[in-house]
Amino acid sequence: ATQAKYSSLDVPQEYVSRTPPYAKLIEKLNVVKKIVDNKPLTLAEKILYSHLVDPEESLASCKGQLSNIRGQEYLKLNPDRVAMQDASAQMALLQFMTCGMSKTAVPGSIHCDHLIVGKDGAEDDLTKSIATNKEVFDFLQSCGEKYGIQFWGPGSGIIHQIVLENFSVPGLMMLGTDSHTPNAGGLGAIAIGVGGADAVDALTGTPWELKAPKVLGVKLTGHLSGWSSPKDVITHLAGILTVRGGTGYIVEYFGDGVESLSCTGMATICNMGAEIGATTSTFPYQDAHRRYLIQTDREPISKAADAANKEFNFLRADEGAEYDKVVEINLSELEPHVNGPFTPDLSTPISKFGDTAKKENWPSTVSAGLIGSCTNSSYQDMSRAVSLIKQAEDAGLRPKIPFFVTPGSEQIRATIERDGLIDTFEKNGAIVLANACGPCIGQWDRTDVSKTSTESNAIFTSFNRNFRARNDGNRNTMNFLTSPDMVTAMIYSGDMNFNPITDSIQLENGKSFKFQAPVGEELPNSGFIKGRKEFYPEANPQPKTDVEVNVSPESDRLQLLDPFQPWSGDELSTNVLLRVEGKCTTDHISAAGAWLKYKGHLENISYNTLIGAVNKDTGEVNKAYDLNGDQYGIPELMMKWKDEGRPWVVVAEHNYGEGSAREHAALSPRFLGGSIILVKSFARIHETNLKKQGMLPLTFADEADYDKISPCDLLTTVDLKDMIAKDGNNGGVLRMKVTKKDGTEFEILCKHTMSKDQIEFFKAGSAINHIGNLKRE
Ligand code: F3S
Repeated sequence: ATQAKYSSLDVPQEYVSRTPPYAKLIEKLNVVKKIVDNKPLTLAEKILYSHLVDPEESLASCKGQLSNIRGQEYLKLNPDRVAMQDASAQMALLQFMTCGMSKTAVPGSIHCDHLIVGKDGAEDDLTKSIATNKEVFDFLQSCGEKYGIQFWGPGSGIIHQIVLENFSVPGLMMLGTDSHTPNAGGLGAIAIGVGGADAVDALTGTPWELKAPKVLGVKLTGHLSGWSSPKDVITHLAGILTVRGGTGYIVEYFGDGVESLSCTGMATICNMGAEIGATTSTFPYQDAHRRYLIQTDREPISKAADAANKEFNFLRADEGAEYDKVVEINLSELEPHVNGPFTPDLSTPISKFGDTAKKENWPSTVSAGLIGSCTNSSYQDMSRAVSLIKQAEDAGLRPKIPFFVTPGSEQIRATIERDGLIDTFEKNGAIVLANACGPCIGQWDRTDVSKTSTESNAIFTSFNRNFRARNDGNRNTMNFLTSPDMVTAMIYSGDMNFNPITDSIQLENGKSFKFQAPVGEELPNSGFIKGRKEFYPEANPQPKTDVEVNVSPESDRLQLLDPFQPWSGDELSTNVLLRVEGKCTTDHISAAGAWLKYKGHLENISYNTLIGAVNKDTGEVNKAYDLNGDQYGIPELMMKWKDEGRPWVVVAEHNYGEGSAREHAALSPRFLGGSIILVKSFARIHETNLKKQGMLPLTFADEADYDKISPCDLLTTVDLKDMIAKDGNNGGVLRMKVTKKDGTEFEILCKHTMSKDQIEFFKAGSAINHIGNLKRE
């Protein structure tokens, strides 16, 4: 009878590994509903809690009300799948290999996208990048074959676009080793960005822990039209909430306005939820989702999702569901926004941008425009951009500045090529780059502005992130994030004061030209085409145990891992290596760009640790001072202290580790002898990553204590042993003795958020050590 009840949720065999186990999830949700006396649930809670390993255990302390555990209890979850990009997959797989399993517990995919340079155009760049990274791509491919993980090779596309086209489904819960994994929420999934060690949890079938998130509701009313686009929803929201506003929340969109969005537009919005620090973002099931699933060859899955929604009310919030916070945005009144420079939450409506630029003394001209990336390379984005280019072409205009287009996947590239969009781009001077991250991740071999130029220059991009030096390695490049429409219009003016909605451009014939609002198609009229077959992996790869995964001891790109030492059982005694001033993102802690090539070699990449950090006590970047006053680069002093057996602590300010899931930002400090990171506050993923690598992340109970700490002070925990004996108590306070250089002593209070399991990671030396111990038991 149970089977018959759920028969409408069945999909043909070939779709099973790509469909959430709806029947099982709905059964679990029924258990949850019973625990909370059928109180209305948000969509985020439905998806998340239906993935609990054991609802009764996780919800034991909720007293019939989920709001009682939000932000308090840790949930143990079973994600449905894992996706990994090439840069982070190396470490994830090196860690997975140490667990001794012959295959993964859930389906996984590897995507080669971050290591591909953007310079001359797709073909040349791809050939060169494959040659440069051959060893790494071969390693990833052999891991894929050995463990049965789908391998999407270089040129196939960007992880999040491929996930959207193939794996994201309403109601799915997945982990991805990239901070923009929430992109998949555009198709109604709960998709969370994590470090490699978390991915290993899912790949080994170990319950994955997440602190029960709060739910932030974003009510969308009205409808988008004219120049306004989905990108403006999130750039505007980032302005309202700031880079920390989403911390600890899942953002759930609702309201009539959702109906005017395309599925790919919703993905853009969820993608940049990472920029407000949200755990993830998601949308209720829509007709747009059904249309997208059908167009991407997944009609049977769309039928199962229809049934899960209509018959079991699984894919939308219950009537009366309560949000911890609600923000309302009227799409009919939404103006295009431009965010930046250097932080994604500095949001300026286009009508005020010119004046703000003058006031802030930003450059008066724009030096380059870049569209595409995982954030904005949908068919809709590309067709809208082309509609503007055609208007300019008809008026005889040529771009004034370099213009680059990055398609998100081979499917998108091939489809826009078939429909003549690539031709229009290229005829109008654009360089179409490989289907890869390229300039978005610092792989932009820029020739017009040198990396070391001290002069400011401004670029307009449709990307998602704009920290210093992220795109071209130049700290003085100001990246302004906006919609592809705004970027495209801007390349014809190049003037920071230009507002394409109201302003005209002077033509050579004396007339003036004004853009009409862009128009585009949500999905291609003639459907998608797949493109080049060689970019597609086997649909359901099975593990091949006889495949050898080779890592040469001579390699400077890959290095097998040595386990970190377990906790000694004593209180920690650490010297302050550095007090970091201000913003310290994962880009500051573990720089990307040229360093990306060492992602699989922990020792080599660790030479980049905190090289972007500002020393609070001297104002210098990448400078720290030894006990005798000698100056060192930060990683050099870490290495020296490691060799001397001197554990260290780094002290920092708010939202430390903001930005990405980059686990090297935790691995490298640990590798170089760090024990504690003590800050005013952490970004969630980074704090978890530190715990996974056996570090002790602490926050000041009183932020003012930051000012009482100086470099080289000795910080000794007072009651760590007691805290460990109590299994962490699910967070609490830890006393710390501070000994100044002159011998004076005082105590400060620090807070920790360690769960029982995380205490086990700390004791074992790392989460991987702990999992390995469990598998061996
Ligand atoms: Fe790649 Fe940039 Fe997206 S690095 S995954 S295109 S955020």
